[in-house]
Amino acid sequence: MNKINYVDICCGLNWGDEAKGKIIAELAKTNEYNFVCRWAGGSNAGHTVYINGKKYKTHLIPCGIFYNISSIIGPDCVININSFNREIEYLKENGFNTDLIKISENAHLITDEHIEEDKLKYKSQGTTAQGIAPCYRDKYGRVGKQIKDIEYFKKYIWDNKLSGNVLCEGAQGFWLDINQGNYPYVTSSTTLPYGACSLGFSPKLIRKIYGASKIYDTRSGIDPDFPEELLNDEELLLIIKEGKEYGTTTNRMRKVNWLNIDKLIKSINISGTTDVVISKIDVLDKLKKFKVIYEKKIKSFDSLEDMKDFINNILNKSCSNVEKVIYSNNVEFVDV
Ligand code: IMP
Ligand code: MG
Repeated sequence: MNKINYVDICCGLNWGDEAKGKIIAELAKTNEYNFVCRWAGGSNAGHTVYINGKKYKTHLIPCGIFYNISSIIGPDCVININSFNREIEYLKENGFNTDLIKISENAHLITDEHIEEDKLKYKSQGTTAQGIAPCYRDKYGRVGKQIKDIEYFKKYIWDNKLSGNVLCEGAQGFWLDINQGNYPYVTSSTTLPYGACSLGFSPKLIRKIYGASKIYDTRSGIDPDFPEELLNDEELLLIIKEGKEYGTTTNRMRKVNWLNIDKLIKSINISGTTDVVISKIDVLDKLKKFKVIYEKKIKSFDSLEDMKDFINNILNKSCSNVEKVIYSNNVEFVDV
């Protein structure tokens, strides 16, 4: 088998932290995929996966590694030796086969200088301080260092081949995209599914696009669309607590707002999402707070069922690519 059969993609529809890790783990578990690939970003991401009740985290290495699947880090990713090495050690200690990890020789290196500069110049913008912006600046300024320039990565170099069924793992989310997001409060790469084609396949091979959303919005880092006043709202504070909305990479408290349906429609349609997965419904159910933002106004519901019906109707009406809307609580998938 030396040809790609199809490519499925999982991307974030909000501002990251939409439980993409969980969705990818559910998909990888089916044994359907020959490769799991990351297409952009670096260790600014944080994916949490539960396997047999145990919690695992990765930042750059695709979650396919937990299921013994070839895990590829693509040419538009950015990598720091120390944080990569930490992840490798962590995976080895936990018994996973790190020989399955391969990196495109064209991926760029995040140097210690990039990280220092990020801390100094971009932290006020709320970055994760992993050196992302300075590294991409050097890449696009064509003065960056690539993985192939470095001895350390020799044994990880990918042969640029993909075959069979491929799953691509998005990082961050639609509204953190460098082109679609609230610039400059964005990351420095593309979080949209088309970015996955940078791995070297035709967009025509894309079969399904799983779009991950939470049932409420969260923002880690600074963004005028998530003003400080949100932290004075008693109900939203309850969601932070109940939903444990603290960053995987930075441990910062995330800002929370009601799910913005207007934005969700746009991110579903532009990303080409076919399957929407809306997570953490149990958080609102526990608190008995059911609200969304629709046409710029807050709209309340009496029950989770009413809220789901409303969302389903709107997505049915406004998002013609969508084949399925799945609701999920913190741990399990609930198909509807
Ligand atoms: P950077 O990617 O570290 O430069 O951060 C740019 C912006 O994106 C900041 O507001 C970060 O908080 C946000 N960000 C980057 N990666 C993630 C992520 O994986 N989840 C949530 N927010 C992120
Ligand atoms: Mg995350």
